[in-house]
Amino acid sequence: MKKLFILPIAAVALLVSCKSKTTTEPVSNKVVGVSPSFTGKKQLTEGMIAQGKTIFDNRCGKCHDLPNPKSFSDEKWVGIMNAMAPKAKLDAKQSELVYDYVTFNN
Ligand code: HEC
Repeated sequence: MKKLFILPIAAVALLVSCKSKTTTEPVSNKVVGVSPSFTGKKQLTEGMIAQGKTIFDNRCGKCHDLPNPKSFSDEKWVGIMNAMAPKAKLDAKQSELVYDYVTFNN
């Protein structure tokens, strides 16, 4: 008699665990694009783009208005970031995140 009760409970537990797996998966790791091939072509995640946007919004509008990512090509943005990263005191990682953000949106 006992076994009859255990089975449905196990089935419910399995369903719940499957469901929570899909709902708790971090959205930020969702791949949303690929960076330009000349920068090494890597997958871009939602979280990386969000981080890049935060740095861009906070650090790139201090001396001038925030530039429009669409104003420059992927190639142009390489030179711009080389010039602007030191001005904004970004480290290599932050600079890359900003680059990924602007070229994702240009
Ligand atoms: C310390 C001040 C300062 C900060 C911070 C700064 N910039 Fe600039 N930016 C300048 C100056 C000055 C110019 C114009 C002269 C030049 O091109 O060097 C400029 C020009 C630009 C231009 C125009 C380039 C062109 O060819 O027309 C872009 C785009 C730009 N910045 C992007 C950024 C981004 C992105 C960041 C953040 C990573 C940033 N800037 C942070 C000072 C700054």
